[in-house]
Amino acid sequence: MKILGIESSCDETAAAVVEDGRKVLSNVIASQVEEHKIYGGVVPEIASRRHTEAICSVVEKALSDADCTINDIDAIAVTYAPGLIGALLVGVNYAKGLSYSTGIPLVPVHHLRGHIAANYISDEALKPPFVSLVVSGGHSHIINVKDYTDFEIIGRTRDDAAGEAMDKAARTVGLPYPGGVNLDKVSVNGDENKYKFPVPKVADSKYDFSFSGLKTFAVNLVHNASQKGETVKAADLGASFIKAVTDLLVSHTMEAVKDFGAEKIVLAGGVSANSRLRRIMEEKCKSKGIKLYKPELKYCGDNAAMIASQGYYEFTAGKKADLTLNAVASMPITEL
Ligand code: KG4
Ligand code: ZN
Repeated sequence: MKILGIESSCDETAAAVVEDGRKVLSNVIASQVEEHKIYGGVVPEIASRRHTEAICSVVEKALSDADCTINDIDAIAVTYAPGLIGALLVGVNYAKGLSYSTGIPLVPVHHLRGHIAANYISDEALKPPFVSLVVSGGHSHIINVKDYTDFEIIGRTRDDAAGEAMDKAARTVGLPYPGGVNLDKVSVNGDENKYKFPVPKVADSKYDFSFSGLKTFAVNLVHNASQKGETVKAADLGASFIKAVTDLLVSHTMEAVKDFGAEKIVLAGGVSANSRLRRIMEEKCKSKGIKLYKPELKYCGDNAAMIASQGYYEFTAGKKADLTLNAVASMPITEL
């Protein structure tokens, strides 16, 4: 079964064709990063306009790269939540138009479910149940994935998302957008023990995260140093910050895995590209005899192959939308 996936929730216009949820036949991404860079972050109005300009050619290229036409497609899967509302609407309305004009079924896909599904592409043997750490620019969750379409939230951030915190720390040390990946790069040679960050605790949950205090700590470090005429090395601050964030992500996930009796951990979302997170999680899992799954780097960030993959499982579970489908800016992963 061939699924056409469409993704436009943030600043990538993407389309892909995936067979039976696992085999990527094409994966096209038109990134807007260069344009948003000058503003230091994504400008929603610009994002919507660029999606509108790119969507037709991106979908056409996804079909031609997969060596097929729209008539070979069994279902159209589209990200409908969560994300920037104007950006989501472009993909949703394009998918609705395509479904209406061709009679091909329309399947709504939750963006974070898609991030988890990136792992079904990277490892054909992976099957639920497992515990997933989903860390993106807008969300940080520990999820109990009971089945392909059955999710339970174990833990979540109470304030900033992990990716958002990475982006803010990057800006503090003068690195350009996209912050997280640049912070990762400069930190590789930094001293991660140079600055001792506090360990944030959330009062009534051992699984929930809080990252805003770490961000404030980084900002204060830089300000205090500059008042004394000193400079903070981006590599050292970055490495220490990444250590603080990733240690928290790893320890809470390991706690959840122990309590829920899981045997597999699945990393997902843009921050799952972080080199220290991947390395430390691998070490921890090895020592505990837990199998770790990580998306290939090209499927960590936003893409439509992951949406087509999850779309396959949603469609085979009976999920379909009609032309009343709307985009939703905020929606829990558990919503049906
Ligand atoms: O999943 P994603 O591509 O988009 C959203 O759904 O939000 O995640 C983007 C986030 C950004 O905050 C970005 O800085 C972060 O993922 N990110 C990283 C790395 N690559 C991307 N954070 C840390 N290290 C990286 N290598
Ligand atoms: Zn994403």
